[in-house]
Amino acid sequence: MKKTMLTAICVLALALGAGAATQVDRKAQSNWDKHCSFCHGEDGKARTMIARKINAADLTSEKIQRKFGDNQEELMKIISDGLSKGDKNIMKPLNKKLKKEEIESLALYVIKLSDKAHQKSK
Ligand code: HEC
Repeated sequence: MKKTMLTAICVLALALGAGAATQVDRKAQSNWDKHCSFCHGEDGKARTMIARKINAADLTSEKIQRKFGDNQEELMKIISDGLSKGDKNIMKPLNKKLKKEEIESLALYVIKLSDKAHQKSK
């Protein structure tokens, strides 16, 4: 009886853990859709008309890979603080709109985007 209880608890814990992980992903996806894809395109490749017009970065490109690689911290900084060139604001800071965990998982989402793109092209 005791053993069954223990097994049940383990199974429950595992299920909860997996659930939390996919939830983070889904949240990151929706934040991407809400805050980034408008300019960078759904796949981050900046192939949409708007992306071309404003010259958004292809986040899966080698150039960005070289710049950020798997550096989640740097990406988090850009997402938090936004991006400006001179006195022209390009990307709005999101540190007031998103929680730290959301920024963290969004940065990871960006890293995964380029991983996915590179796997496909291989
Ligand atoms: C209003 C349009 C717009 C939105 C929204 C936007 N970006 Fe950008 N982003 C740009 C443009 C334009 C550039 C290219 C800037 C340049 O000239 O280097 C860029 C560049 C970047 C870069 C490369 C920066 C560098 O130093 O080379 C990263 C990373 C990035 N964006 C991530 C994101 C993420 C993540 C989001 C969502 C949180 C986002 N962007 C939302 C327009 C946007």
